Amino acid sequence: AGGGRMSGAKLPKAEAVALIRAAFAAREYAYVPYSRFAVGAALREQGGQGRVFTGCNIENASYTPTNCAERTALFKAVSEGARQFDAIAIVGSKLGERNTLVTGPCGVCRQALYEFGGPALAVIMAKSEDDYIETTLGELLPYGFGPQNLDVDPNR
Ligand code: THU
Repeated sequence: AGGGRMSGAKLPKAEAVALIRAAFAAREYAYVPYSRFAVGAALREQGGQGRVFTGCNIENASYTPTNCAERTALFKAVSEGARQFDAIAIVGSKLGERNTLVTGPCGVCRQALYEFGGPALAVIMAKSEDDYIETTLGELLPYGFGPQNLDVDPNR
């Protein structure tokens, strides 16, 4: 792969800002007539071309089929051949409002991301380009259950 991040190091500010900006742009497409809580995510491929895949949340009148922004971005990416990621930025707030809280990925999205990002995935939860928290998926999902637990090498 190459181009991997040093573990423990934070993303350079310019790279974090680029992902946050992409997440805000994706949030514009959020389909949220029920909650009116709009979320955007930007997921960066590790190494190679470092493509960035974006997603928004997509709700449904039957509620349950609702897809979070993070999984929209993830499934778009995997369906286009990307399987390893090193960072994701997430922004969320009620339509027309600014957030007082950061939006952390829900439990289902943590698990979905763990499959492809592992514990080192950088997770940037942003209120704005200048106000964000960067942590890792390992912090958000300790002892995550992944392919290794099933003794599977996903690249076989
Ligand atoms: N949502 C996301 O898209 N990502 C998150 O990290 C938190 C929740 C969406 C799901 C639903 O459309 C709305 O936010 C309210 O739960």
